[in-house]
This record gives sequence, structure tokens and C-alpha cells, in this order.
Amino acid sequence: MNLRKVALVASILASSLVLSGCQAASADGSGSGGAITVGFSQVGAESGWRTANTKDIRAAFAHAHITLKFSDAQQQQENQIATIRAYIQQRVSVIAFSPVVESGWDTVLKEAKAAGIPVVLTDRAIDTSDPSLYVTRLGSDFVKEGEKAGQWATKEFASATSVNVIEIEGTTGSAPTIGRRTGFANAIGHDPKFHIIATQDGGFTRSGGEQAMEALLKAHPGVDLVYSQNDDMALGAIQAIEAAGKKPGTDIKVESIDATHDGMEALAEGKINFIVECNPLLGAGLVKVVTEIVAGKHVPKWLVSSERTFTREQAIRALPTRKY
Ligand code: AHR
Repeated sequence: MNLRKVALVASILASSLVLSGCQAASADGSGSGGAITVGFSQVGAESGWRTANTKDIRAAFAHAHITLKFSDAQQQQENQIATIRAYIQQRVSVIAFSPVVESGWDTVLKEAKAAGIPVVLTDRAIDTSDPSLYVTRLGSDFVKEGEKAGQWATKEFASATSVNVIEIEGTTGSAPTIGRRTGFANAIGHDPKFHIIATQDGGFTRSGGEQAMEALLKAHPGVDLVYSQNDDMALGAIQAIEAAGKKPGTDIKVESIDATHDGMEALAEGKINFIVECNPLLGAGLVKVVTEIVAGKHVPKWLVSSERTFTREQAIRALPTRKY
């Protein structure tokens, strides 16, 4: 090979190395195609689940060296709408948010679409007639979670002739509240011995669960089962049950959803009888879909979290290595 040919081959090799370097760097958000910036609007800090979710998302973006703009909506939809508009103005690469409630998003999401900014839903779903307004959702099947809770109740009370149930619900109008109510009703609905004697909003908070249970116990002393739509409200309800001189887990059975560390400890102690897991560790998945979307790849419309259930014995075994 003469000198001119050697120089030509060397220059082709050099430019292909530069190109592949650019592609790899873009994929992790730091390439010459422009650094990725994600604007994220979180629901709030209402529960142990939410705290774990926020921590995991922040850590995953820090680890991937992708800029994350983070905003806490303090459980207010109008705060989230204002934040999404600010992210559109700032021309972030991707907007991600966990919607406080299901409905009322179309206008602002149409603005994001018109600006060419892809939207990813994390955790909670929205109710829209135009699914093109978001690219994908990462999160749980809330109906299935409610069904698992209802199925446990039907087994636990298999020999009972009548079961009085109190349901403590999460934020009114939110996807987990609607899904978990529907799923639970699906599972127990065919069995006429179950009576949901009262339903009350506990806002997914510990204090909300305590207040709801305190009031409901006065009105309905003959309760057999508390179905709490998250661990924090169950922990609050337990305090109210104990304050009323009853033994949670024995006099009144308690089941909940999430499987946070505090919930699992109460399950291990026998104060909660059963927990359906809702996985808050969505950070790595969010980083992955964001980089895929920016790279122009196709992503599935729903990335469903994989989740399990816990009995007391299973909680005791799982607690030492539990991540949240
Ligand atoms: O959207 C997920 C739910 O929101 C969790 O179950 C609850 O703990 C949180 O506040």
C-alpha cells in the first residue's frame, strides 16, 4: 500500500471512530448531539413510597450523568400544569411526570406535543382520549393490585359468614385510588358476605389514615377488615385502632398496598396481615426510556412494574435486604 492509500484508510478509520463515539455519548445523554435535560414533576412527598420513588429517580439520573430538573407539586394538579409549562419554555429534552389525578391533562400535553417535547408518565396514569399525548408510562397495574388484595380477603375469610370491610382510599381522582378500588371490588364482588360498610379518603398519608379510621371506628365499631390503599394510611389506621383499645391484625385484620419498609415491619409484627407490593424503584427504567426516546427508538406504551405480595413470614425473610 502506498503512502497516499495509508493516509486515506487512516482518515476513514479516524472519522468512523469519532462517529461511533458520538453515538455512544448521545445514548447516555452527554454527547455532541446535545446533552439531555429531563424536567420531572413529582406528585409530592405524601408517603414512604413517594420518598423512595423520588430518591431512586434522583439517584438514577445522577448515576447516568443526565440533568434532571425536579419539582415537587405538593399534591396540586395546578402546580404540575404550571411546572410542565415552565419545562416547555425551557425546551427540556423530555418531560416526565407522575400525575396527581387522572383527568384534566389534555390542554397542557397538547402544548408539549406542539413544542415537540416527548412526555413520559411515571407511576400514575392519565385518562385521555388522545394517547398520542404521551409516549409511554412506567408503573404499576393498580387494578391488579386491588384484585390481589381482594383475593387475599376471600381466602382469609373463607369460613366467615359475614365480613364488614372499611376501605381507606388514597387521593380522590388519582389512578391508584380508582384502580385499587375497582380491583378490590372485582375480587370480592361475587361474594355477597363481604360488605364495604364505609369508604373514606385518607389522602395516602399517615395522618389521613389515622383520622379516617378514628372517625370510622366511632361510626362502625363492628369492623372485621381494613383495606387500606397504601401502607402509610394503614400505619395511621393501626394507631387509631390501638387508641380505641383494639388489637390491629387480630381484632381487626388489616391489609394494604406498597410494601415500604415501615409497612413491612408492621406486617412482621403482625399488625398488618397482608401487603400487596407497589414498586417505587422506577429510576433506572426512566433513564432507559428517556435515552431511547431521544435516540429515536420505539418504546412500548406501558412498561408494567413487576410486583409480588407479602405474608408475615415472607416479610420477615425479605426485610433484611429490602431496598425501601
Ligand atoms: O401512586 C402510587 C401511590 O402513591 C402509592 O401507593 C402511595 O403510597 C403513593 O402516595
